[in-house]
Amino acid sequence: MIKFDNNRFHLKNSFYSYVLEVSKGAHLLHRYWGKPLKEFRDSAPLQMLDRGFSGQLRAFENERTYSLDTLPQEYPAQGHTDFRIPAYRVELENGTNITELNYKAHRIFDGKPNLQGLPQSFGGGQTLEIELEDICNNFKVFLNYTVFEDTPILARSARFVNSGGKSIKIRNATSAAIDFNDNNFDIINLYGAHTAERTIHRHKIPRGIFEVSSTRGASSHQHSPFIALARPDATEFVGEVYAASLVYSGSFAAKVEAEQFGTTRFVIGLNPDTFTWKLEPGEEFQTPEVILNYSCAGLNGMSQGFQKFYQEHLIRSKFKNQVRPILVNNWEATYFDFNEEKIVALAECAKDLGLELVVLDDGWFGKRNDDNSSLGDWFVNKEKLPNEIKGLAEEVHKRGLKFGLWVEPEMVNEDSELFRAHPDWILHVPDYQPSFGRHQLILDLSRSEVRDYVLDAMRKVFSSAPIDYVKWDMNRHMTEAFSAGRPADRQMETQHRYMLGLYDIMEKLVTEFPDILFESCSGGGGRFDAGMLYYMPQIWTSDDSDAVCRLSIQSGTGLAFPVVTQGAHVSVVPNHQVGRMTTFQMRNFVAYAGTYGFELDITKFTEDEKAEVRDYVKLYKEIRSTIQFGKFTRLLTGDKDGNEYAWQFEDDGRLIVLYFKVLAKPAEPIRILKFADLNPDKVYTLKKYFPPKKMSFDGGKQVINFEEKSFYGDELMFEGISVEKIDTDFAAYLWCFEK
Ligand code: GLA
Repeated sequence: MIKFDNNRFHLKNSFYSYVLEVSKGAHLLHRYWGKPLKEFRDSAPLQMLDRGFSGQLRAFENERTYSLDTLPQEYPAQGHTDFRIPAYRVELENGTNITELNYKAHRIFDGKPNLQGLPQSFGGGQTLEIELEDICNNFKVFLNYTVFEDTPILARSARFVNSGGKSIKIRNATSAAIDFNDNNFDIINLYGAHTAERTIHRHKIPRGIFEVSSTRGASSHQHSPFIALARPDATEFVGEVYAASLVYSGSFAAKVEAEQFGTTRFVIGLNPDTFTWKLEPGEEFQTPEVILNYSCAGLNGMSQGFQKFYQEHLIRSKFKNQVRPILVNNWEATYFDFNEEKIVALAECAKDLGLELVVLDDGWFGKRNDDNSSLGDWFVNKEKLPNEIKGLAEEVHKRGLKFGLWVEPEMVNEDSELFRAHPDWILHVPDYQPSFGRHQLILDLSRSEVRDYVLDAMRKVFSSAPIDYVKWDMNRHMTEAFSAGRPADRQMETQHRYMLGLYDIMEKLVTEFPDILFESCSGGGGRFDAGMLYYMPQIWTSDDSDAVCRLSIQSGTGLAFPVVTQGAHVSVVPNHQVGRMTTFQMRNFVAYAGTYGFELDITKFTEDEKAEVRDYVKLYKEIRSTIQFGKFTRLLTGDKDGNEYAWQFEDDGRLIVLYFKVLAKPAEPIRILKFADLNPDKVYTLKKYFPPKKMSFDGGKQVINFEEKSFYGDELMFEGISVEKIDTDFAAYLWCFEK
């Protein structure tokens, strides 16, 4: 619900109020964001003070208390009396970047405008569009705010229109800026590395400017396009959190400035270091969308807000509400060393174990027997697969299983037919040698002829065989992001044009192949963002498949993304990334918390192990709808020493709790687990209980005795359950209650 009254906009639903004000008929100010208010009557009016070195615009020269440098602004300019981080910077034809946006008009309407060519939220809502105009009529900016009734989410974006007669250059165009009137915050961001994505980092807001950003042409393993400002007393369960998640998969920047007078400015959007956009008269530029999330129920409240919103208003695939098939992927089983026989043997075994999907990973095309060659040559390697993909897929289907295939369409190797035919199709700068990453180069998707090739190649692959699932990979970051197809003054558009080109390709392919379940990947979770989820409903969370590492990676990913979007597989011990031995039960239960699968040579299981896998698979099938689509709550998040995690999943009929303890320790207190957010009046009956087995790396049958017991929800929340003490490292427990 959006109201305009007395120069104020009040955007409101049952989760929040967000208030804007037009000051002096010109300046758009931010006044409030937080718990819903019946009305905003300005109980804490802005106090105008004459602050040294905070200057005035000419029109207010004699009003020394009125300075843009101290006012809470909604989309602030640079270099025109406000010295804080700007929301945008536009360079005019005369080379200056002094502009001044004033409020001009607004529209309130039902629904949400389409953001041309970009991933975006959809489905209902009411939108406020505010038109700001440069006082010298060089351009306009339209700020968009969509309020959805049923969620704590506010979607924002900005659209630039060149309304003047000369070309302009947009040097910086954030999706949103917000001024908070205090700085009593902790910042929470997700940092990482390849094989160590989305580690939760919580720290006191520093004085100065803090930045989370990527210039890599991908949202990146290193910094997720997510940031939260939490009140210092906010926990997983209580307290205020303001969060932002960008619906974009390329370079981005989020900045937080705790400024001189105790206020905080926050901006998020495209990274200005890797972006410039030339706009000719009459042309428009649309920024990506940012999903703003207000929670007064702590970090779990924030996560649940994002998770529900993405499932209902962002992910489009027909699979989004379907339980996901349990897969086996041959990557860690065979790497490049496979042939049809080996994959069929995997399929035969997969069938016996109750798995549902066999995925053939990298190495099936061109002459690709290692990672030095053949990306770009999307025709089958007949030495490995004499009956082509079709023959293999049919063999898999014959066994009642689905078939999936890996592709990496955005890349090319120098040693490939494609590169030999089109050496200028890569991102590069004339005179400088292109840099390599994993021996590969990036195809310049900002050019239409390159996009056409990729589209055509993928259409051929996807229709060459009965393919049910595709893993879309991207295994290096952008360097030399320049294009042979673009004039000098538009070279800095290349990174963003690449992303628009990629989105265009994905849009076409997911539309043309609606029956393929797509999983996005970028060396694991290097492009785990809301932009990708618009096209592909699940993402391979990390190339690190070690169960202990995954506790932190999956907890961090769950901060901003739904459980069902996270690929999670059981792999072999010693683990291939960190060499660790973890128990089989821990590997299975950690992989339960996502789209469960296997990433090891399942044909090597002993008969005992196979029997055990069948049990794990059977149990997962019974409870996966609750895990994948139930309400997810972090009960323990590795607090202090990263030793203990507990995850709760609940739907109308069932409650599942997983508890993990990495290392056993002497003389520890008994762990009481208090469940969260249950219905106090409902009776929950314990139907299944799996305590850890003692250091069982390979499996082996275990007989579990337990008593079926029933409790009211209030007791499980306030008294909790005491965890049976079993001294073993890598302990994993599962409780399944029915209501
Ligand atoms: C990336 C992926 C892996 C695997 C390899 C294949 O690293 O994340 O899962 O597909 O590529 O080369």
